[in-house]
Amino acid sequence: FLKTGGEAIAACIRIARSYTGKDHVVQVGYNGWLNSLAAGGPVLPRQAGTSFDSGIPKCLSDLHHSCKWNDMEGIKKVYEEVNGNLAAIVIAADYAEMDKGVTYYKEVREFADKKDVVLIYDEIVTGFRIALGGVQEYFNVKPDLAVFSKGIANGMPISVYAGKKEVMKKCDKGNGVVISSTFGGETLSLAAAKAAITAYRKYNVIDHIRNQGKKLWESLNEIFEKHNMPIQVKGLWPCPAFTVKDGAPANTISSFLSLAYKNGVSLYNVSYVNYSHKDKDIDETLQRLEKACKEF
Ligand SMILES: Cc1ncc(COP(=O)(O)O)c(C=O)c1O
Repeated sequence: FLKTGGEAIAACIRIARSYTGKDHVVQVGYNGWLNSLAAGGPVLPRQAGTSFDSGIPKCLSDLHHSCKWNDMEGIKKVYEEVNGNLAAIVIAADYAEMDKGVTYYKEVREFADKKDVVLIYDEIVTGFRIALGGVQEYFNVKPDLAVFSKGIANGMPISVYAGKKEVMKKCDKGNGVVISSTFGGETLSLAAAKAAITAYRKYNVIDHIRNQGKKLWESLNEIFEKHNMPIQVKGLWPCPAFTVKDGAPANTISSFLSLAYKNGVSLYNVSYVNYSHKDKDIDETLQRLEKACKEF
């Protein structure tokens, strides 16, 4: 256990390097600021970083590579470029294009098996939301290591790095990898995780957020259509993302999000419904968002 998502991903990368004896890492999506090392990789979610002024030494950045979601060819190209010296592939899903996971995860799994690369899933958003067991349960393709955080303790600060015994064994005393943190064993968050997981099971929370998400986002897409808004919500209903239609100005989503906020709804590029959102909340949210569309 650790405290933040980024440090748990960093832990997995270290374990993967030790386990494979290899150096390079391919990252798909945002994996936390500690791991924003690839030139052109996302420094913040959905924002491509640059290699200038980043405070990251080139020799470190050279070991990290950024590939787009569902771009298997990109991963193969990096593998060739580094002459097979690839320790890990770390994947955080593209929430708007999650459906591609059906084929993508299988392809990456097969490739990682063939080339002895450790496959790491960043389940920081998807864990305890898409399914209790995240994308690995939803798409039924298992990684070697995985990280969970945000949802596991309903917002209390905790992250988890977990994985196959033979890979995790690298962390056993005397086996090479040292990962240590003062607050890693803090018990309040552990108790919260236990309570949250019990409640998720007892109250079918995943079904609730799937159903309420469907109600909210499908209706919002209808409202967008009705008002000729160049925006669409795409992805799986527990954690979809706002996307713009071709040709729309770059600030379309941020303008809409500002108007939504002005009307009392605080949204982000990827927005979530939660267990506390009941039907009347969804109705009120839709009314407020329709007002935002009229003001757009
Ligand atoms: C997919 C994903 N990975 C990693 C992180 C980083 O987690 P933390 O901010 O706890 O380091 C985030 C945080 O937003 C995230 O969404």
